[in-house]
Amino acid sequence: GAPHLARRGRDLYLEDCQLATLAQQHGTPLYVYSQASMLDALAAYQRALAGRPHLICYAMKANSSLAVLQTFARAGCGFDIVSGGELQRVLAAGASASKVVFSGVGKTRTEMRQALEAGVRCFNVESESELALLSQVAVELGVRAPVSLRVNPDVDAGTHPYISTGLKGNKFGIAHEQALAVYRHAAQLPGIAVRGIDCHIGSQLTEVAPFLDALDRILDLVEAIEAAGITLHHLDLGGGLGITYTDETPPSADELIAQLLARIDARGHGHREIVFEPGRSLVGNAGVLLTEVLYLKPGETKNFCIVDAAMNDLMRPAMYEAWMGIVPCTERDAPAVTWDVVGPVCESGDWLGRERELAVAPGDHLAILSAGAYGMAMASNYNTRGRAAEVMVRGHQATLIRRRESAAELYANERLID
Ligand code: LLP
Repeated sequence: GAPHLARRGRDLYLEDCQLATLAQQHGTPLYVYSQASMLDALAAYQRALAGRPHLICYAMKANSSLAVLQTFARAGCGFDIVSGGELQRVLAAGASASKVVFSGVGKTRTEMRQALEAGVRCFNVESESELALLSQVAVELGVRAPVSLRVNPDVDAGTHPYISTGLKGNKFGIAHEQALAVYRHAAQLPGIAVRGIDCHIGSQLTEVAPFLDALDRILDLVEAIEAAGITLHHLDLGGGLGITYTDETPPSADELIAQLLARIDARGHGHREIVFEPGRSLVGNAGVLLTEVLYLKPGETKNFCIVDAAMNDLMRPAMYEAWMGIVPCTERDAPAVTWDVVGPVCESGDWLGRERELAVAPGDHLAILSAGAYGMAMASNYNTRGRAAEVMVRGHQATLIRRRESAAELYANERLID
């Protein structure tokens, strides 16, 4: 799965940096990212869309660290945001608001104003009441808000229910059957300028078929909307392309896009600007989380390998029962034993991997793989644990891009009572 991760002798390297050395230098838990992996992943999308109007809007919720955003901004990437905080963050990283699309079911009036003042490229509107408020806020500011409606195409993405978003029962998007009426209404509103159409059906998709199904449903709508005299400039096909955590075999971005473009062209929509909002597939396999083995606790029914990273650092296993690879940073010559790899947090749900064959001893460093997406971005301070440090590697060079959070920082905003 991870293109720039390789073992040289016994030692695991990310690009040309030895991970055990980084763990020693910076301490653990430590997130480490390969910039080359991120840029390669982006290049695959850009290559597949070369020669036609397009914009890749990195869904920054997957990993919103400034240096990651900066990496993508410098490579010409746009961004998909879901909050005013993400807008502020991405502007701080040097991105241009003109390449930002704003998604999310619960945009507040303040966030709308903030985004209009910054001049974002498009709002992906998810309900009629949001549309009405956005129009009102835009009129107050004397502008028109550029808008796509996020349509819920009612297709089964075949992924985990918590990260599936394109079915009728989900809170996301405007129902397919209502979309035309809402477009008609949008076209009448004084503060709205209709620009495009948007959909996103879920995350960690490993098949092309659901993307094609959604596309067909969207193109049906585009044709109906244009027949009603409303022009759509772009098609935003969302994100959702999966990565390999273990044995998944998702299509490559090139493959997926080639199939989507073929369908778009066949149906006579080749002139439209294409927008994608990939998150996980740009950063997931670019990152690892390094952790140190604290204690081994063999037992009658289970053996526990207690490490210094926990569910607050990496929530995916606890939250989705997600399987993430765990390998030693330096291999040792000893028979492997089956361990549940668990963190120090006081919850039974605090595990990172179950029943893993590992030859380990206290003091060893382990790398949790595919941790570049929805890792640090979902970290919390539960148990008053400061969030991990982060390092970006570029060839031999390793740069600390976020220092470890101290306990004092965690309670700095708090006040004792009289
Ligand atoms: N666009 C929209 C509107 C989204 O809601 C999402 C993700 C994306 C794009 C990017 O999707 P991606 O390419 O990353 O699949 N925390 C979960 C994933 C939640 C995804 C939420 N929305 C996880 O760790 O698996």
